[in-house]
Amino acid sequence: MVTLALDRVSARYGRRDILSDASCPPIPGGVLTALVGANAAGKSTLFRRIAGQLGGRGSVHLSGATLDELRYMPQDTAMNAALTVYESIILALKQGEGGWRLAAQDLAAVDAVLARFDLSALAQRQLPELSGGQRQAVSIAQTLVTGPRVVLMDEPTSALDLYRQYEVLEALRAYAAETGAVILLALHDLNQVMRNCATTLALSSGHVLACGPTLEVLTPDLIRNLYGIEARVERCSRGEPVLIVDGPSAA
Ligand SMILES: Nc1ncnc2c1ncn2[C@@H]1O[C@H](COP(=O)(O)OP(=O)(O)O)[C@@H](O)[C@H]1O
Ligand SMILES: [Mg+2]
Repeated sequence: MVTLALDRVSARYGRRDILSDASCPPIPGGVLTALVGANAAGKSTLFRRIAGQLGGRGSVHLSGATLDELRYMPQDTAMNAALTVYESIILALKQGEGGWRLAAQDLAAVDAVLARFDLSALAQRQLPELSGGQRQAVSIAQTLVTGPRVVLMDEPTSALDLYRQYEVLEALRAYAAETGAVILLALHDLNQVMRNCATTLALSSGHVLACGPTLEVLTPDLIRNLYGIEARVERCSRGEPVLIVDGPSAA
């Protein structure tokens, strides 16, 4: 199994500190981990820092995988290239490799990732003709086609309808379970987080407020600290935890 730990990780833009000594114990692979926090808390910055696009003090520790097995899907992915969905996924598969020869197993990997994310019917469509949600699903397939063992996805469900959100999160869970990969997802819907993510890392103003099993992390106190919202976790008629929002906390 792969794990990812943070040891006093910092990052800045210019002279402004965005992440300050962000630390967490090893995040386990094989399950989904949510990265939660208010707008501008530093989630995207933490992803860029882990992916090596930003420097800074402190270190990111991977065990069971190396940095070339890491894939990062940014929050906004432009897709203006005149390529079909199928071609774009081949391109993602071959990126960073020396040659362009396609083996049978390459085509099999593309077909498998299209099937996994229910995109086979879109394979021959042109990227610029896709809807926002379709584009987001294609980005996810591009991110996973190489079989990465460390996956960072920045708000991967933000453009998806309810059915697609469910489907994509189920497929990501299955991928994690099959491969043991560490999968860190920035998500805003805390009910989605409770249903799908075994682990949660909570960021506030560039500091890690909590990291651990989701139901232990998402307490009313933590949610108040993160978002300034009063909320309760209760059990629904089927015994599953659900988050109920009562309103803004008193200043
Ligand atoms: N390229 C950049 N240059 C300067 N400041 C940035 C840049 N990107 C983000 N920031 C600032 O860093 C802070 C954290 O941003 P970000 O990591 O995008 O937050 P989140 O993803 O949690 O919403 C914000 O205050 C934002 O304005
Ligand atoms: Mg962001």
